[in-house]
Amino acid sequence: MELIDIIRNRRAIRKYLPKKVEREKLEKIVEAGLFAPSPGGGQSSKIILIDNVELIDRIGIVNANCENRNRGHSVSADQPSIIDDLSIRSGFYSCPALGVICIQRKFYTYVNAIGTAFISAQNMCLEAYDLGVSSVIVGRAEATFQQPEIQELLSKWGLDPEYMPIAFVCLGYINGDYPSVKARKENRAIFVD
Ligand SMILES: Cc1cc2nc3c(=O)[nH]c(=O)nc-3n(C[C@H](O)[C@H](O)[C@H](O)COP(=O)(O)O)c2cc1C
Repeated sequence: MELIDIIRNRRAIRKYLPKKVEREKLEKIVEAGLFAPSPGGGQSSKIILIDNVELIDRIGIVNANCENRNRGHSVSADQPSIIDDLSIRSGFYSCPALGVICIQRKFYTYVNAIGTAFISAQNMCLEAYDLGVSSVIVGRAEATFQQPEIQELLSKWGLDPEYMPIAFVCLGYINGDYPSVKARKENRAIFVD
């Protein structure tokens, strides 16, 4: 598939089948994340890939509780988010695999740290789409891992405390039909000759 078609067609998916994603696909998706650009070429991120739905749900409930869910606006009608549907318990939508993108804090400004994490996340989503795997980027990672009930997980996984989680990528096979391309708002590009 042409890269531009992958970029256009990828959508945020929040309904997943209880079906594991093959390890080879997860490895390619993580590789795509690791090949994202980084400030000064420092490769300052680490990606944790969780392949355990019970653990993902446990962290996902904490993640959802970190959000103000009564914002009263709609994110998506066909792929409801935790803002749209207050009955969804996990901020990770019961996905079977989850990427946690962590950034080394000491070298970079906070703005660059956030950018580094989310471009890795997008690389992962695009590679996933090309492999037939659905995805959605989820935030609130720092807040999630500050909660006492899961705080110990990062050190249990062997993550150096110098790294902080910034972004999540939910991964799995879509439950239902894949949504169509979302039209873009007008007047969002300016070309200067
Ligand atoms: C930085 C960032 C943070 C996001 N955080 C969340 C999130 O916490 N929960 C969620 O369900 N979707 C999240 N999304 C997904 C967006 O809601 C989604 O991309 C947007 O609604 C547009 O839909 P589309 O990706 O299908 O075009 C996030 C996306 C970005 C880029």
